Amino acid sequence: MNLYDFYAELLEEHLSEDMSKEEIKSVIETPKFSHQGDLSFPCFQLAKKKRQSPAAIAAELAGSLSSSFLVKAEAAGPYVNIFFNGKTTGAEIMDGILSQEPQFGTLSFGKGKVITIDMSSPNIAKPFSMGHLRSTVIGNSIALLAEKCGFETIKINYIGDWGTQFGKLITAYKKWGDEEKVKANPIPELFSLYKKFHKEAEADPSLNDEGRRAFKLLEDGDPEVTALWNWFKSESLSAFEEIYELLGVSFDSYHGESFYNDKMGAAVELIKEKGLLETSEGAEVVWLDDKGLPPSLIKKSDGATLYATRDIAAALYRKKTYGFSQALYVVGQEQTIHFRQVFAVLEKLGMPWADQMVHIPFGLILQEGKKMSTRKGRVILLEEVLKEAIDMASSNIKEKNPDLENAEETARWVGTGAVIFHDLKNDRMNDIEFSLEDMLTFEGETGPYVQYTHARAQSILRKADMQEADHFTGLEDQESWELIKILNKYPEVIQDAYTNYSPSILAKYILAVSKAFNKYYGKTRILEENEDLHSRLLLVKSVTDILSDGLSLLGIKAPSQM
Ligand code: ARG
Repeated sequence: MNLYDFYAELLEEHLSEDMSKEEIKSVIETPKFSHQGDLSFPCFQLAKKKRQSPAAIAAELAGSLSSSFLVKAEAAGPYVNIFFNGKTTGAEIMDGILSQEPQFGTLSFGKGKVITIDMSSPNIAKPFSMGHLRSTVIGNSIALLAEKCGFETIKINYIGDWGTQFGKLITAYKKWGDEEKVKANPIPELFSLYKKFHKEAEADPSLNDEGRRAFKLLEDGDPEVTALWNWFKSESLSAFEEIYELLGVSFDSYHGESFYNDKMGAAVELIKEKGLLETSEGAEVVWLDDKGLPPSLIKKSDGATLYATRDIAAALYRKKTYGFSQALYVVGQEQTIHFRQVFAVLEKLGMPWADQMVHIPFGLILQEGKKMSTRKGRVILLEEVLKEAIDMASSNIKEKNPDLENAEETARWVGTGAVIFHDLKNDRMNDIEFSLEDMLTFEGETGPYVQYTHARAQSILRKADMQEADHFTGLEDQESWELIKILNKYPEVIQDAYTNYSPSILAKYILAVSKAFNKYYGKTRILEENEDLHSRLLLVKSVTDILSDGLSLLGIKAPSQM
C-alpha cells in the first residue's frame, strides 16, 4: 500500500474535475512534525483554479474525507492534513511487505535491457588510488541497483594499459630498472621508476622522445617491449585483484585500453569516411566547435593513437557486442570534457545510440583541501586504508565480543563496510575530505552503525521463537508506525537511487531505517510475551531483511553477529 497513492485517490473522488490523480500526488507532502499528521495536501493550486481562498477549500475538503484507514482529516490553514490509523494501516502495509519478502523492493522496469558499466579502470604500474576506489564502489552499487530493477548488467574494468606513459615506463625500466626489485615489490617499484622518468625528463627532454619511440614499438608489437609490458601488466592485475577480493567486487570483462589496439584502425577509418577527420598542427582531430567543445584528438603527428580514440573504438565494440540500452561510465568529474567529446564524435558519426551514453561523474577525494596526484606522490594507498580499517574493526570486536565466531571474517566485512559506506553516503558529486578517522568511526552515520543495528535485530530474532504462519495483526505505538512508514518506502528508494545513479539515496535511507528501528527498540520490550509479540517479531524480521538487502545493494555484507 502506497500512502501517497492512497491519499491521492481519496482526494481525487472530490477533485476529479479540477486535478488529476497524478497532479494531486505530485503536490502531497510529508509534514515536518508528526503532530501535523502523516501526509499533507496544500490547496494553493486548487485555490487559483477555483478562485477561492486556500484555507476555505482546505476546510471544506477536510470535512468531506473519510476512510477506515484514517483517524482524522484536519485543515491547518491552506493544508489538509491526514492522520492514519497506525494499527490498521500498519497491518495492511506489513501484510504487503511480508507477502513479497525476500523480493520486496525488486522491480522489473529494466527487464530485457542490458546496461554496460565502465568502472574502476585503474592504470597498470600505478597504485590503485582513492579515485579508483570511488569508481569501483559507486559503479558496483549502481550495477547492483540496476539488477534489482531487472536490468542485465555488464561490469567492465577498462584497465588503463595503453598509451605513451607505457613507453616512458619501459624506457625507465631499461635504463634504471632492477628485475629482482620489481618482482619483490611490483607496483611501488614501477611507480617510482615512472616518477624518476618525469624528474629526469625535466633536465633532459630527449627522454620524452625515447619514451614515445618505445610506445610506438609497443603499438607495432615489438617482442621485447611487448614482453616487458605483459609482465608489468600481470603483476599489476594480481595486485588489483587483492583489492577487489577485499571489496567483494567482480567484473564481467577486463577488456582494457590495449584490447582496442587492433580495433582503432577501423574506428579512425570510419571517422575519415564520414569526412570528420581534419589535420591540425600535424595531428588529426575531429572539430567540435559547434558543440562548444575543444577538438577531439584522434591521432598524434607520429601516428600514435590517444585516449579518446580508444574510447570511441570501445564504444563501437560494446554496442555491437552487448547491444546495451545504456552505457554508463563511472569516472571522476575531471574527465567530463573527455566524455562529452567522445559522445559528440559518436553523434557526428551518426550513431543513433549516441544519446544512450552516460557519464556518471563524482567528486574528488581531497587531502588537506588539495587534489591527490599520482605523479606528485600525493596519494593515499587504498590497500593500506582497507587494512587499517579491518585492523580497527578487529580490535573493536575483540573488546566488545571476544567470543565471536568468525571474528576474522566479520572484521573484514565491518572494516571494508566502513570504507564503502563512508564513500556512498555522500552525494557522489561532493568532494570528500579524506580522513581515516572519520571513515573508521564506528558510531554515527557509518557502515558499522548500520551493520550493528542489523546484527542487534538478528539477535532478537534468534532469541525468539518465530513461527512461519505468524500473522501481522497490528501495533498501536507511534514508533512502530513511524518505522513501518519508512520500510514501506523501500521500492521507491531503489527506483530513485537507480534512476539518479545515486547510491547515496539508498545509503541515507538505510540510515533512516536504522535510526527508526533503534528508536523503536529503545521504547519497546520487543520480546515481552503478549498478544502483539508476533507482530513485533515480524516487524523486526522485515527490518533485518531490508537492512541486509539494502546493505548488499551498496556492496556491503551484513554479519548476523558482531
Ligand atoms: N584509466 C582511467 C584513469 O585512471 C580511467 C578510465 C575510465 N574509463 C574510460 N572508458 N575512459 O583515469
